[in-house]
Amino acid sequence: MEAYVIEWLSMLLRWLHLIVGIAWIGASFYFVWLDNSLRPPRDEALLRKGVAGELWAVHGGGFYNPQKYLVAPDSLPAQLHWFKWEAYSTWLSGMALMTTLYYWQAGSWMLDPARAALTPPQAVALGIACIAGGWLVYDSLCRLLVDRSALVLGAVYFGFVVAVAWGLTHVLSGRAAFLHVGAMIATAMSANVFFRIIPGQKKAVAQMQRGEAPDPALGKLAKQRSVHNNYLTLPVLFCMISNHYAFVYGHDHAWAGLALILLAGALIRHFFNQRHRGQAQWRYPLAGVALLAVVAVWFAPASGAARAGEPVDFAQVQQVITARCTACHAQHPRLVAAAPAGVLLDTPDRIRAMRERIWVQAVQVRAMPLGNITHITEDERELLDRWASRGDN
Ligand code: HEC
Repeated sequence: MEAYVIEWLSMLLRWLHLIVGIAWIGASFYFVWLDNSLRPPRDEALLRKGVAGELWAVHGGGFYNPQKYLVAPDSLPAQLHWFKWEAYSTWLSGMALMTTLYYWQAGSWMLDPARAALTPPQAVALGIACIAGGWLVYDSLCRLLVDRSALVLGAVYFGFVVAVAWGLTHVLSGRAAFLHVGAMIATAMSANVFFRIIPGQKKAVAQMQRGEAPDPALGKLAKQRSVHNNYLTLPVLFCMISNHYAFVYGHDHAWAGLALILLAGALIRHFFNQRHRGQAQWRYPLAGVALLAVVAVWFAPASGAARAGEPVDFAQVQQVITARCTACHAQHPRLVAAAPAGVLLDTPDRIRAMRERIWVQAVQVRAMPLGNITHITEDERELLDRWASRGDN
């Protein structure tokens, strides 16, 4: 029953997280595009009012004419929309999903006994420490390097993220490590909105309500953080989908592959930012694609050439699968509510049909059995390897 409840919670939370995440990232993409597409107004009256840029657009049958004020308009409108719940609800639903899937079931989703002998509470504490500590480090870096260029700050933060990825992939399961790198970055992005951007804007509005000119430094700080958020969107989204791809997170050098993919995401984002300004430079996305190609070639599995050794008796294979896999991968599994990913390994035909995927998951990337909860041995993995790669039986 508990497994069934977890499945429902996780399905609903994932749905919610995706919806609010789209609203947040969509608004972020829109505003960056808008900012980069503004052109100085031709109308003198607008310039005198303090409008620094405007844009004309048509969408859904209507014409739109957003205008950006350099600091702020002379008087505030009665209705002012704040963009914040998109970010907050993404973080809240994301943490709820993380708790349901990873913290509630840390034994199977977070641990990898082949990497470190952690207990589930230790793994959960490590995960939470990364998420919270990651924000403190990022925020301190922003203050310490306030006078340095955005590139220096970006390089130092990237180094920190890679160090965390290296550490986590040595102690947690690959998927938990990747997801925590993503959650750490995404938490810094939401905290930027919650602790820096919105309070800065609130202060500026309060200053205006008192009839003072708003402090331009507040606007600059909010802008700096929102630029960071913009460059982090594609890297974070990769981390969020990475748990489907054991060939990346399960690799021996998964942390290095992750670093290159995150970098590729930021480079591709940079290209779009420039393109909106009419300054597209193709070397950035090309460099990004080259990095992805490096990972693809580097992580390609060794050819499945037949291993030397005795032919394998299928009865032995079935015995291993039954002992180590069917607690989850069966029509009526014992440990989960329904066979995960629809993978059924409870008859000889089904096992044979899944030969290739069994090899990938249990031998090559060693993502299965999940958390090695059913204690598969090295000899058994070797048996599966010989069976899958020989192609007989
Ligand atoms: C504790 C439960 C559990 C056990 C035991 C287990 N698995 Fe899985 N398996 C899962 C879950 C959960 C997923 C879905 C992973 C996901 O959603 O990314 C999965 C997914 C898979 C997939 C599909 C992955 C893909 O995306 O292609 C294969 C193949 C697989 N398991 C094979 C095995 C084999 C072989 C064994 C035994 C050696 C095994 N599993 C043991 C829980 C388990």
